[in-house]
Amino acid sequence: MSQPWTTEVRAPGKLYIAGEYAVVEPGIPAVLIAVDRYVTVRVRDAVGTGHIISDLNAGSRLEWYRRDSDMVIEADEALFSFVLAAMRIVEEVVVEFGEPLRIFDLAITSELDDDSGRKFGLGSSAAVTVATVAALCAHYGLDLSRMEQLKLALLAGTEVQRSGSGGDIAASMFGGWIAYTAFDRAWARRERAQRSLAELLALDWPGLSVRRVAPPDGLRLLVGWTGSPASTSRLVGGVQSRKDQGGTDYAHFLAESRRCVTSLVDALNAGDREGVLAGIRRNRELLRQLGERTGITIETPTLRHLIETAADYGGAAKTSGAGGGDCGIVLIDADAGIDGLLALWERADIRVLNLSVHQPEGPVE
Ligand code: PMV
Ligand code: MG
Repeated sequence: MSQPWTTEVRAPGKLYIAGEYAVVEPGIPAVLIAVDRYVTVRVRDAVGTGHIISDLNAGSRLEWYRRDSDMVIEADEALFSFVLAAMRIVEEVVVEFGEPLRIFDLAITSELDDDSGRKFGLGSSAAVTVATVAALCAHYGLDLSRMEQLKLALLAGTEVQRSGSGGDIAASMFGGWIAYTAFDRAWARRERAQRSLAELLALDWPGLSVRRVAPPDGLRLLVGWTGSPASTSRLVGGVQSRKDQGGTDYAHFLAESRRCVTSLVDALNAGDREGVLAGIRRNRELLRQLGERTGITIETPTLRHLIETAADYGGAAKTSGAGGGDCGIVLIDADAGIDGLLALWERADIRVLNLSVHQPEGPVE
């Protein structure tokens, strides 16, 4: 008979609230939340060979797309590569600490896909990376702070997916409402080549910050899922490859996004409801313009419908994450009647995801 699992850790999924695309550049802020759907990782010692057991990628469908003449596998789908990268990075710390490596089984279960394995865009690759790092730190008895574990998960994430900001990983690691700015990847790569991991974890990383933000006061959050999964790396790659072309005004977009998200964070922390709604509307406009200028479809017709119908009901709405499908979010007066809005969404095949914010567990750093 199999041994019982000795370690169990869960990590929440995430949603972007504001600051997408700009947050890929070091030091430019985004706001995210963690949501109460989880990836759970369990670990137990094994003898001889270890196993990775998973209910992820039901049906094992791999998505690929073309970048020039090359075929690229959608990294979000290749969840095992995130698990492996997370396992390797934790074990590198174990070796540096002079502790013996162990053989173990690792089991992964996810609530971040629907029953048929379709992604909601809630950050399953980030959550699986965070859960694996945290579970193995616990299994090996490594006493690392939340920030140190975040740095490990960010390094694991960049090894698999070169384009992401890591905001999804930070939201999953910290929980609640956060403001995040990304680290300088080129700096991290250089330092990683020259230092031990333990040294790198102890450093302040240029650009990297995670701050808690007050949840909106008197507003409710609605999440609508468009039913079409989107490839974040394809969309981000598209914007990145066009950002230096004339006419995209990328520098202007970055400056405006920074300004917009900074005032959104101030409005959240001040409990300024109108300021929060204005920030969401402004960010929607910036992302819509970015899509137009780069020719990347961020706001699909379904997402536009979601946003415009929410506006008719007095809400402030926008795409969440890279767009191109996945989810849109709405902030709306907590007392507003929304039955009519939900009926419109249902007619347009927009599914309301019944999500709440995942509150952080344990001491908050
Ligand atoms: O589509 P999502 O939820 O994975 O979010 C992507 C957000 C971007 O800012 C566009 C990219 C990133 O890694 O931050
Ligand atoms: Mg997405």
